[in-house]
Amino acid sequence: MTTLTQYLNNHSTNTAVNETIATITEVGKTIAQLLRRGALADILGEAGNQNVQGEEQKKLDVLANDLLLDALASNAHCAGVASEELDNSTPAHADGSLLVLFDPLDGSSNIDINMAVGTIFSILPYQRQGQISVDKDFLQAGNQQLAAGYLLYGTSTMLALTIANDVAMFSLDPDSGDYVLIEEKIQIDADTSEYSINSSNYRYWRAPMQQYIDELIDGEAGVRGRDFNTRWVAAMVGDVHRILCRGGLFTYPFDTKYAHKAGKLRLMYEANPMSLLIERAGGGATDAVNRILDIEPNDIHQRVPVVLGSKNEVAYVKDLHLQHAAK
Ligand code: F6P
Ligand code: MN
Repeated sequence: MTTLTQYLNNHSTNTAVNETIATITEVGKTIAQLLRRGALADILGEAGNQNVQGEEQKKLDVLANDLLLDALASNAHCAGVASEELDNSTPAHADGSLLVLFDPLDGSSNIDINMAVGTIFSILPYQRQGQISVDKDFLQAGNQQLAAGYLLYGTSTMLALTIANDVAMFSLDPDSGDYVLIEEKIQIDADTSEYSINSSNYRYWRAPMQQYIDELIDGEAGVRGRDFNTRWVAAMVGDVHRILCRGGLFTYPFDTKYAHKAGKLRLMYEANPMSLLIERAGGGATDAVNRILDIEPNDIHQRVPVVLGSKNEVAYVKDLHLQHAAK
């Protein structure tokens, strides 16, 4: 049996990163406990205010955000923290070597119906040690991430983590309070017959995405020559977890539903950490044209279309987009 602490010591010599992962995963235990008590802990329902994205905040969005922010602000390695729920980043210890970004509670619409939710995190190097961090310091491409991962609060609490080129999964043992390694060097099959998309947005998609989903629905009778199956958890953490477990394709594509947004998902809190996990597990991650991890951000709350998962299927979607662009 290998615990998270042992795994970190064996796989990474970066004490700052290791201790920061420990801080985040400790908070994860508290969030998991609150979720387990649900209505009894008075954590369900709306908080009564909107976040920077104009979305209604749930009580647990606010609670998870505050718990992570407080814990990371007390971590001397942390020079600054940025949260999906807050307008601006929060400076912490100027001498710290790391910046931490997080989506405190992913899939919030699942909270009140007792379904899977998660916490997503991304750790970047801090380039201006000794000076107070500002939003601009966070604007680094995803390929700069030192570590990334998520906590999935499902029927059990699990951690997926990537450091040092490997992807590993841990299960939280509710008796000992340890995260226990259950699988390492995770690799996803290149081919899949399972896909995740919110099809109710079909009319807002671009032509190549409509064509792609039409082909999958045609199944055996169409150009793909085989049947496909749909799964949609409505929490990105849940869908990405399934893909790390058994492959698949997840997309929240470009749509014209909200003209000023490039997609629904956030580059820095969602797309980048998930893309690092998926690529390290042998999969692909694109905005349908570019590699997500190479996108240079210009805003900490920037949105991006996301297509990620089994490598050949992601390449197929990208090809369709290239073919349409060439017409
Ligand atoms: O954080 C955004 C998010 O909740 C993702 O976790 C999830 O994949 C998606 O939005 C669900 O979107 P929709 O409600 O449009 O299906
Ligand atoms: Mn989210």
